[in-house]
Amino acid sequence: MDYLKNIALLHSDYDMFRKKHFSNQCINLLKKVYTKSEVLLTHSATGALEMVASLIDIKPQDEIIMPSFTFVSTANAFVNKGATPVFVDVKNNTLNIDEMLIEQAITEKTKAIIAMHYAGHPCNMEAIKSLCEKYDLYLIEDAAMGYGMYYDSKPLGSIGDFGVVSFDITKHITAIQGGMLLVNNPTFIERAEQIYHIGTNRKQFDLGKVDHYEWVDQGSKYQMNELNAAILQQELTNDKVIISHRIKLSKLYHDLLNDLEARKICTMIGKELLDNNIHEFYLIVKNKEVRDKLMQFLSNKKIEAHFHYQPLHLAPMGRKVGRYLGGNNTEEVAQRIIRLPLNNLTTESEVAEVSKQIIAFYEQWQS
Ligand SMILES: Cc1ncc(COP(=O)(O)O)c(C=O)c1O
Repeated sequence: MDYLKNIALLHSDYDMFRKKHFSNQCINLLKKVYTKSEVLLTHSATGALEMVASLIDIKPQDEIIMPSFTFVSTANAFVNKGATPVFVDVKNNTLNIDEMLIEQAITEKTKAIIAMHYAGHPCNMEAIKSLCEKYDLYLIEDAAMGYGMYYDSKPLGSIGDFGVVSFDITKHITAIQGGMLLVNNPTFIERAEQIYHIGTNRKQFDLGKVDHYEWVDQGSKYQMNELNAAILQQELTNDKVIISHRIKLSKLYHDLLNDLEARKICTMIGKELLDNNIHEFYLIVKNKEVRDKLMQFLSNKKIEAHFHYQPLHLAPMGRKVGRYLGGNNTEEVAQRIIRLPLNNLTTESEVAEVSKQIIAFYEQWQS
């Protein structure tokens, strides 16, 4: 991938920068995937979520339903405007919000449900969508990890009223830092453009519809930096190669570690998810003690493995501003998950080595 060529081009041609050459190229590529959405490239998925909170006019009395097993941005975008996050437990197969618990969490103050697709695996959108229709709620997809993944042939992020995707360095398709807002409900498109352009009607001006642009709404500078777009353009152009490489590695992990699961030593990301598993490969080990020991063991071998989100309802801010509904799956998963090395440059022999070391750990642990 020729990131440097793009950056050099940008550096040498001010007009290219001014006309947002790479942002426009990215949007053209993204429009081929998200054919029915308005695509706005943002500086982050966090920024895109903040735009959604402005678009649906979040007020202090509002409640927003979301999983507790998610990143702080999912909640913060709405808490920043005074809303109450209502955290719901996750299912232990996909680690997605448990749709069977959502109805109990709905009150007359509920304004939206956030379907966060963990590791890019789709939530039960049929069930969540029908709850949104029944109670007249907005459906927001946090597809931060979901680029390249689909539900019922629809790309994640394109199903709800709004979707957000992250192109952060931690994601499989990256701008180093970046994100995108998908506006799927057409009634919000014009306002989304205003909020995106620092609360001005700049878009109308660019289209030649007004002779100057002015301040018409709240907003901020949510746009993606052109330098990040220059990198993202390369990643989007090569997305199929990146995605198939990661699916292949994730299947390899599954094959190599299968025996541990068969012996009930640990579980892995479900086999049924593997054909479309791009973002991460994880194990669920027996308990936190084993998880921490395994991470340390791997770290001693210079292998970086990570845990993931800490339950938001147990965090100091979560306790202060939110409430929780459900059992203890969120806590269990947070303590037992371990994510194995999987990035665009990871090789098959590295996956084999990591798997060998994990098997060696369990041999020592059990002897
Ligand atoms: C579920 C989820 N939502 C939102 C975000 C925020 O993404 P960004 O870093 O692009 O702001 C993340 C980041 O990892 C995330 O995991």
